[in-house]
Amino acid sequence: MTSFRDKLSLAGKVAVVTGGAGILGQKFCAGLAEFGAKVAVVDVDETSAGTLAARLVSDYSVEAIGVSCDIAERESVNAMLSKVVTALGGVDILHNNAATKSSDLAAFFAPFEEVSLENWREVMSVNLDGAFLVSQAVGRQMIAQGRGGSIINTSSIYGILGADKRIYEGSHYLGREINTPAVYAASKAGLLGLTRYLSTYWAEHNIRVNAITPGGVFSGQNDEFRTRYSARIPMGRMAESDEMVSALLFLASDASSYITGQNIVVDGGLSAW
Ligand SMILES: NC(=O)c1ccc[n+]([C@@H]2O[C@H](COP(=O)([O-])OP(=O)(O)OC[C@H]3O[C@@H](n4cnc5c(N)ncnc54)[C@H](O)[C@@H]3O)[C@@H](O)[C@H]2O)c1
Repeated sequence: MTSFRDKLSLAGKVAVVTGGAGILGQKFCAGLAEFGAKVAVVDVDETSAGTLAARLVSDYSVEAIGVSCDIAERESVNAMLSKVVTALGGVDILHNNAATKSSDLAAFFAPFEEVSLENWREVMSVNLDGAFLVSQAVGRQMIAQGRGGSIINTSSIYGILGADKRIYEGSHYLGREINTPAVYAASKAGLLGLTRYLSTYWAEHNIRVNAITPGGVFSGQNDEFRTRYSARIPMGRMAESDEMVSALLFLASDASSYITGQNIVVDGGLSAW
């Protein structure tokens, strides 16, 4: 008899999470570990990745490793993958979750008319090129293993919707007024194209490729921003970071075995108006 509960188990599977040390990445890694996966926390922030991996081992009694990797660099990606395969025995789940605001916040949040090509390329090199490089390396590994796999890309509501500039008036976050830069929106829309492309391309190998699309998550934005943003949301509030995790677990697990090329939008109803 089919056990529907067992389909959600990730026991024995190996998950790679890029940007695993970030605000959402930490939650994604914890969820995967709680459901039994061995987890590779992949991040440019080596110390935080290692600290989180140690915590996963002690909190969930699973194998976990922190791996330092710049996903924008092919050699770094290849070295990361070979560490993961050696330490954990392969890869079954890839979560392309890393994103950057670049090394220069002022340049990242500059008005569109003033954005430099350097800044645009720096962000694309992580958000989109990075997902390309890691998917390519891990996809090859999954094909060689011959047991299928699940790839999940983290997009954003700004990959499917235009940004509403009005909600950023009086915003304060990361020590400054913020907005949604065009490169962020374009990179996140690009990830949805990559998702659909790879879902059909690798279907014959039983490698499923889907996306999750988070809405705005509360992480210390000021009251002005929180109020303006929440007023646009049917559910009337920002998301909590925990609320992004179950969509990932569903897509990572065999509970979604016939779902590929799709996008789960976790936005409190914003895109339903
Ligand atoms: N937080 C939100 O409100 C929100 C909303 C929509 C979408 N998202 C998306 O969710 C994902 C996670 O967001 P977050 O809020 O946790 O962001 P975050 O900035 O806290 O985490 C991103 C992580 O990626 C890592 N990273 C950056 N460049 C890297 C590189 N070159 N190689 C490897 N790792 C690199 C960073 O060190 C960081 O740990 C991102 O893709 C983001 O665009 C977030």
